[in-house]
Amino acid sequence: MSGFRPIRLGVNVDHVATVRNARGGQHPDPLQAAEIAIAAGADGITAHLREDRRHIRDDDIARLKEHLRKPLNLEMAGTEDMAAIAITTRPHAACLVPERREERTTEGGLDVVTHRHELADVVTALGKANIRVSLFIAPDERQIEGAVALGAPVIEIHTGAWCDALAAGETARAAAEFTRIAAGAEFGSRLGLEVHAGHGLDYSTAETIAALPSVVELNIGHFLIGEAIAIGLGAAVEQMLAAMRRGRVMAKAAS
Ligand code: PXP
Repeated sequence: MSGFRPIRLGVNVDHVATVRNARGGQHPDPLQAAEIAIAAGADGITAHLREDRRHIRDDDIARLKEHLRKPLNLEMAGTEDMAAIAITTRPHAACLVPERREERTTEGGLDVVTHRHELADVVTALGKANIRVSLFIAPDERQIEGAVALGAPVIEIHTGAWCDALAAGETARAAAEFTRIAAGAEFGSRLGLEVHAGHGLDYSTAETIAALPSVVELNIGHFLIGEAIAIGLGAAVEQMLAAMRRGRVMAKAAS
């Protein structure tokens, strides 16, 4: 058992902001969701400040940074503009991801080999500001070596292709993807990187990834926010009915 370090959970609150933004206003609040996640045992909070601000906004990042008692991991494109925001906000960590406006979520890993020149300045500037840099990449040896060459201390392995293959019932592809993830995690760890994983994880896939000794952090968002509806909607409806009954009873008493 000696090779197993504790494994942390970072909860991604982006989709709390997605729901809030569907109406405007302040509800539901990503900071409140973050505090609930932390009270339930989450080790940190992740939020992706996308270029188009489709969910998390600049003021969410500022409030998360100001109020959270646990580390904030800012997901961001590896651009100068985003680096400037990170350096001003000083999250605990920044995870650099590829970003295309037309995608629904982060669809692939960052190509740290092709984009090494653009990324080098951002990785260095964030590191100098004491922000722990992570690179979101596919479990590919060239990419992992590229992360080492850039001087990033952490990689986050993209688990999306594996999760997609499982969801599609493509057993052989899923097995091959999982082998890549396991080998990539081991390779990264041997090269001295801290290895995280994320994207598309649910209870079952998180359990499987947690069995890999080199992986020390999972970042999970969409499934957890969906589960908050599945597990939490009943309690919210009960509270609403109680409020309605109180209103009726008070009005009756006053009449
Ligand atoms: N890690 C990274 C780098 C991501 O971009 C995302 C999606 O925002 C996640 C983890 C979480 O993925 P999911 O929302 O599918 O759990």
